[in-house]
Amino acid sequence: MCGIIGYTGKKNARKVLIDGLRKLEYRGYDSAGVSILHDGAITTVKSSGRIDALEEKIGGEVPGVTGVGHTRWATHGAPNDRNAHPHISGDGRFAIVHNGIIENYESLRAELSAGGVCFKSDTDSEVVACLLEQYYDGDFKSAVYKTVGRLEGSFALGIVCADCPDRLFAVKNMSPLIVGVGEGENYFASDVTAFIAHTRDIISLRDGDVAEITSGSVTVYGPDGEEVEPARSVVTWDVEAAEKGGFDHFMLKEIMEQPRALEATIKPRVKNGKIAPEGLDELDISKVSRIVIVACGSAYHAGVVGKYVIERLCRIPTTAELASEFRYSDPIIDENVLVIAISQSGETADTLAAMREAKSKGARVMSIVNVVGSSVANLSDNVLYTWAGPEIAVATTKGYTTQVAMLYMFAVWAAVRLGKITEARERELTQTIMTLPERVQRSIDLNPKIEEMSKKYHTYKTPFFIGRNFDYASCLEASLKLKEISYIHSEAYAAGELKHGTIALISPDELVIAYCCHEALYDKMMSNVKEVKARGARVLAVVKEGCERIMSEADDVIYVAETDPLFMALTQIVPMQLFAYYVAKENGCDIDKPKNLAKSVTVE
Ligand code: F6R
Repeated sequence: MCGIIGYTGKKNARKVLIDGLRKLEYRGYDSAGVSILHDGAITTVKSSGRIDALEEKIGGEVPGVTGVGHTRWATHGAPNDRNAHPHISGDGRFAIVHNGIIENYESLRAELSAGGVCFKSDTDSEVVACLLEQYYDGDFKSAVYKTVGRLEGSFALGIVCADCPDRLFAVKNMSPLIVGVGEGENYFASDVTAFIAHTRDIISLRDGDVAEITSGSVTVYGPDGEEVEPARSVVTWDVEAAEKGGFDHFMLKEIMEQPRALEATIKPRVKNGKIAPEGLDELDISKVSRIVIVACGSAYHAGVVGKYVIERLCRIPTTAELASEFRYSDPIIDENVLVIAISQSGETADTLAAMREAKSKGARVMSIVNVVGSSVANLSDNVLYTWAGPEIAVATTKGYTTQVAMLYMFAVWAAVRLGKITEARERELTQTIMTLPERVQRSIDLNPKIEEMSKKYHTYKTPFFIGRNFDYASCLEASLKLKEISYIHSEAYAAGELKHGTIALISPDELVIAYCCHEALYDKMMSNVKEVKARGARVLAVVKEGCERIMSEADDVIYVAETDPLFMALTQIVPMQLFAYYVAKENGCDIDKPKNLAKSVTVE
């Protein structure tokens, strides 16, 4: 994970770097540091803790208009001052910031130590600074290439050299890195949010690219050191979209933004009452014998919803697989399998690895991604962007719901092409999809009620989420939301499984949150609700509007807007996003930056 930034221009680098690091803090926040170039020397300040601690340690002004910065999520070495980045070469000439993992760092460290190098940290990253020193003969670019040639693993690097004022090198290999092009100033960062306040003109680097950046120029070289055409584009969202906009937390803002985000996902893809996603022209769905969805965390939960919808509408056998498991399972994949990778950040290492595994076996890989130009997008044969806008809170909300909406649209599109649904049904489903933003708004309107309920239930220690089928998929996501931001352990259980062992845990101290929105399985769910009630548990039920029967069984009820049974997963997750948010708030948790987590998981 980790966030890196680099700047060279006319402004004071300290301020630009600190402001940028604050925007990147979601990527990791256990320590931070900056290196600033001035008068042929590099000043470096590093601190454990957050950016505030770093700023305090820096104290007053630091002169210099060129520098690099880093905010860390520890992988190798404890989160302390010593292991914080930037790392400096022994001769003090080079400062580097690194995001990713240098997989062969142990052998490089042994080699460098044998040559007399004394390491100052426990990190894998420090070898980069030491190699630069070893290979430097007055030619900065050549030292960068020789160093990069020795590295294995994933890395985004930012490098400054004391001999070269007004010059930075940025290197990308399987970790995110974007260059921001300004007027008389240039930037690089792990994410555009770090410099969006200054420029929206960007260059997306490809794996193996090296960018040489001065205040007046950006030159991009390919893996062989030859200049290549830079991939330029303009970011369409602005700084406002990346700010909290009056909300206490990004998470709440992003929950509230869901209707708008869903509209951005859905509207441009409906033409003349039909679903017309861009970028699927070369995908011949009739040749697809099986679909495998690969993703991690919440994106995997979106995949579970997708599996149910695709199978029901298209009758293509579909599985949702955890990307981190898939790649090691020697999966049975061939060219007739369509692999769908789902990722908000587009940089999740496990998802990328699963995609590579699938591609190596001949599969076509389609992705559902939010971040434009991300590694997942670049690796895909077909890309469907969710266009949800920047998601800053570590716990995903609009990222998840827009992924689910995109899967709905894909399923309808594919079902039409396969002749599995009539034109009338296509129109009906398309119209219903168009109404989803408004229905999600109705779930958001439950906000005051959910806040009230969270006050009642925030002390329960191990809530159980139970549901069947689509409702079970929502349980997985609702339980993860609660766990990750409130640190309350919870279980998501397929309701029918309770009696196979777990019901032993149900007692009068337990809260059971029962999703009973799937109409066809309502009676079965009622039996499960009765079973837990009989053992004294309190039951909070989530049901469709108008379902009165539940009143006699549940202690509390949340009513969500009804929609086609295929699409309920979207409206029904929102109250539990809010519930997790308010429980975490009641419990005084750091909601946007939960402990031990990071927004973009670029390590396996
Ligand atoms: C949970 C959450 C994570 C991500 C997972 C995949 O709220 O955000 O579980 O869903 O790390 O991330 P992406 O979608 O960026 O691949």
